[in-house]
Amino acid sequence: MSFLTPFVVNLLSGALPLFGGGLSNQQTNGNVDFRSWQNLPKFLPSSPRKYGTPWGSLKYEPGSVNEQMPDTGVTRHYDFDIAPGKLSPDGYQKDMLLFNGQYPGPLIEANWGDWVEIKVTNSLQSLNEGTAVHWHGLRQYQTQFADGVPGLVQCPIAPGSSFTYRFRADHVGSSWYHSHYSAQISSGLIGPMVFYGPRSQPYDIDMGPIMVNDLFHPYYEQLVEHVLSNSSGSHFVFSDNNLINGKMDFDCALVTDGTPCVSNAGVSKFQFRPGKDHLLRVVNTGSAGLQFFTIDEHEMTVISNDFIPITPYKTNSLTLGVGQRNDVIVRGKTGAATQQPYWMRTNLSVNCALPHQPYGLAAIYYDRADFAANKKPTSQPQPLIDAEMPCQNAPLDASSPIARIPAPPADKVVVIQVLDVVNSTGHTIYHLNNQTGRVNYNEPVLRLANEGNFSYPMDPDWNILDTSNSSVVRLVWENRKVDSSDPNFFNRTFAHPMHLHGHDYQVLSYGPGEWDGTIINGDNPIRRDTTILPPSGHLVMQFTTDNPGIWPVHCHVAWHVSAGFLMNIMERPQDIDAQQNIEQIMAQTCDAWDAWSRENVVNQVDSGLRRMAMERER
Ligand SMILES: *[C@@H]1O[C@H](CO)[C@@H](O)[C@H](O)[C@H]1NC(C)=O
Ligand SMILES: *[C@@H]1O[C@H](CO)[C@@H](O)[C@H](O)[C@H]1NC(C)=O
Ligand SMILES: *[C@@H]1O[C@H](CO)[C@@H](O)[C@H](O)[C@H]1NC(C)=O
Ligand SMILES: *[C@@H]1O[C@H](CO)[C@@H](O)[C@H](O)[C@H]1NC(C)=O
Ligand SMILES: *[C@@H]1O[C@H](CO)[C@@H](O)[C@H](O)[C@H]1NC(C)=O
Ligand SMILES: *[C@@H]1O[C@H](CO)[C@@H](O)[C@H](O)[C@H]1NC(C)=O
Ligand SMILES: *[C@@H]1O[C@H](CO)[C@@H](O)[C@H](O)[C@H]1NC(C)=O
Repeated sequence: MSFLTPFVVNLLSGALPLFGGGLSNQQTNGNVDFRSWQNLPKFLPSSPRKYGTPWGSLKYEPGSVNEQMPDTGVTRHYDFDIAPGKLSPDGYQKDMLLFNGQYPGPLIEANWGDWVEIKVTNSLQSLNEGTAVHWHGLRQYQTQFADGVPGLVQCPIAPGSSFTYRFRADHVGSSWYHSHYSAQISSGLIGPMVFYGPRSQPYDIDMGPIMVNDLFHPYYEQLVEHVLSNSSGSHFVFSDNNLINGKMDFDCALVTDGTPCVSNAGVSKFQFRPGKDHLLRVVNTGSAGLQFFTIDEHEMTVISNDFIPITPYKTNSLTLGVGQRNDVIVRGKTGAATQQPYWMRTNLSVNCALPHQPYGLAAIYYDRADFAANKKPTSQPQPLIDAEMPCQNAPLDASSPIARIPAPPADKVVVIQVLDVVNSTGHTIYHLNNQTGRVNYNEPVLRLANEGNFSYPMDPDWNILDTSNSSVVRLVWENRKVDSSDPNFFNRTFAHPMHLHGHDYQVLSYGPGEWDGTIINGDNPIRRDTTILPPSGHLVMQFTTDNPGIWPVHCHVAWHVSAGFLMNIMERPQDIDAQQNIEQIMAQTCDAWDAWSRENVVNQVDSGLRRMAMERER
């Protein structure tokens, strides 16, 4: 079966032939020790040991760069090597890119207010690829050169060189990190990130990160080249599977090209304790697909959206676009109900994503003997929601941030029309107000800004929105109108998970059609760093310009960024050059990248975010 064919396989209707145990953890996920991800502590000890929590009586009320953060005096050090590898997360042996030989990458842990220092080495000499790593959802206030976006705040890390990212753990909660270079994300460069701090709700057991993501068997370059090809025919790409913490089974009968494949590779397993409250940190670490996350016969209490604690609400299902997180608390069952295992499920949307195999599974056990015996759950799924769901997040009035911030009036409002268009060479690309987005790896915008150069004379595709001295910026996104008379009209239109770097923005409205001007919960709207822009709909976000810098706002679907779905906010440019050391830090990546790209041809497959499309004239 080709990855280009729309064909949905229902693994469950075919019944899983065997249940797990076909491959070792080393074969599916490499060096990951998943046991160290579960039963996480309430915080990390510091040295010398202090009594009490590292945050004392400080409350976590995220809202602005000026809020107080504990000064722990601690730096957490990590060393990441990015190299090619072969693993079989779902049984199908895949050419991957790996952090330290593992998939997903190592768990980054820190206490709120700690510094985190991560040395990233690019060992992709054999593939001749650059790289760069983004730490999703952080403010990076006064450290924006650590935000990991090539062409904006750094040059790519050249093959054979290293760059040390250093930033503050400025939020509490759950997130992830990933390559921000082309679509390397879909070849395996993802990992979880947990910051300990005051929590808004009590819980007993921290089950750690639960990463849910679509899996694409081909190498990312093939996918990007297909999406961006101007040959005739469809340019969609379909995911092959859906994983929970990097595992799932696959039906190897579908493999026709001789790739090694084992059908019962094994799913992730979790141990619940009767009657206890379990914290689950659910993160969509995918490349494209919108997920519906559920646990059979269990209710969830949602306590945060992305990094923002919210007044808790109960639900049976979470809707997560790529990049979004929900921390949830799940109360363990008691009595006879603990004598059976339960499925944890994550379903890729079949209306707003393109999955061959939408159903991701993991197993939850109360009984240790059942766990050891890989007993297969027979529990009842939560009701199907994709049919009715308009591919958007939970209703905006379902909850509010605990730290209250009313929506201020905006002094700059920008309406952005999103269209996919076919350009004159027959490539389908995204236009944001008639402008596509690309970056130049060799000329990071931050370096130019630091030099006082705001002219961007080379190419309008840098797509920079200079918000000048505005203090509150409102972006009104209008997704393309679906024209059903268009012969290329495809019923499964896309939802776009919109991520803004450097901010938790306020979400004023989303829904079908155009915005009617109504602000939902205007006295305290939801804040988060990623929100779904629904198909044929709108999303209104706004942020306060308290973080000078260059911050991309983009769809988090890897191929949509590749196709130019990217705009770069130049925020308070006049205050950027006040930051220290920019020139010196830029040189750390740009000197090596300039030297390397002078000697090597940079494969120009996409926008740069994911990839370079413009070579500097020399
Ligand atoms: C997920 O998919 C299963 C089929 O495998 C279905 O029974 C269930 O209702 C779906 N869950 C949601 C929330 O859509
Ligand atoms: C495809 O794009 C290339 C340039 O990228 C151009 O030379 C070629 O003519 C295009 N083909 C079609 C069918 O438009
Ligand atoms: C059309 O878009 C493709 C993909 O971004 C790009 O390579 C090509 O140069 C564009 N064509 C024109 C005429 O700009
Ligand atoms: C885009 O360009 C077309 C003409 O090329 C123009 O009619 C339209 O108003 C433009 N749209 C925006 C949002 O600038
Ligand atoms: C700004 O930077 C660009 C790209 O390097 C360059 O072409 C241009 O001359 C610079 N402008 C000024 C005023 O220095
Ligand atoms: C903002 O900048 C504009 C010119 O760019 C200027 O006219 C205006 O006075 C400035 N406003 C403030 C509050 O500084
Ligand atoms: C889209 O869906 C409608 C009704 O669900 C159907 O009649 C139509 O044929 C579909 N169009 C395409 C292009 O699949």
